[in-house]
Amino acid sequence: MKKIIVTIDGWSSCGKSTLAKQLAKKLGYVYIDSGAMYRAITLYFLRNHIDWSNENDVLNALNCIRLHFEYNPETQLAEIFLNNENVEYVIRDMVVAEKVSEVAAIPAVRTFAVQQQKYMGEKKGIVMDGRDIGTTVFPNAELKIFMTADMLIRVERRFLEMQIKNPNVTFKEVQSNLQMRDQTDSTREVSPLKMAEDAILLDNSKLTMEQQLDFALQLIQEKL
Ligand code: CDP
Repeated sequence: MKKIIVTIDGWSSCGKSTLAKQLAKKLGYVYIDSGAMYRAITLYFLRNHIDWSNENDVLNALNCIRLHFEYNPETQLAEIFLNNENVEYVIRDMVVAEKVSEVAAIPAVRTFAVQQQKYMGEKKGIVMDGRDIGTTVFPNAELKIFMTADMLIRVERRFLEMQIKNPNVTFKEVQSNLQMRDQTDSTREVSPLKMAEDAILLDNSKLTMEQQLDFALQLIQEKL
């Protein structure tokens, strides 16, 4: 059967990864969370006190970073490893969320990540989510979805998710983090977050997970 590339871009915490996981499972495709790569790079920079305003320090640090994904049969997900350490869980912390958009705006960081992302899609049969997947990583993807949802709904979803891990996190803190990331991601110079011309808009504010999956599966059927 013909294999395609599905890209899912959109605003912070609007359910991109939920949809991407559902689709990958249904189709037997690989799911790659490109945001996890920027989060892992940020984690490395923070842990090693890298001064990311200094281009040379950034390039040297990137030379020391090896990222790979490994499939975990228990979670049925490709989990991210930073220099052979599974960091899938720790990269979701607020400490990383606070800095990730700043780090992701650095051109050398983007070149580093995008090159690896393009390679992962060479055999197709992949669903990748992020901010610039339909515009920069796979501009020729067969299906591009751009997701959005009302701000308060997005904050509520992420707040509930984060509260399980960290009961001290506040609604306000999550809200300002999402607003700040949306602003930085959509205004940066290199590959800003924007809808590709040939993407299909999906606003899931009022959709259940089942409804959004049906919507996307319908689109895929048309492409296969
Ligand atoms: O929190 P959420 O799941 O919405 O974000 P994420 O997918 O984990 O991405 C975290 C951050 O990485 C984003 O806010 C962007 O700054 C950056 N990112 C990016 O610049 N390009 C991508 N393709 C994916 C993520």
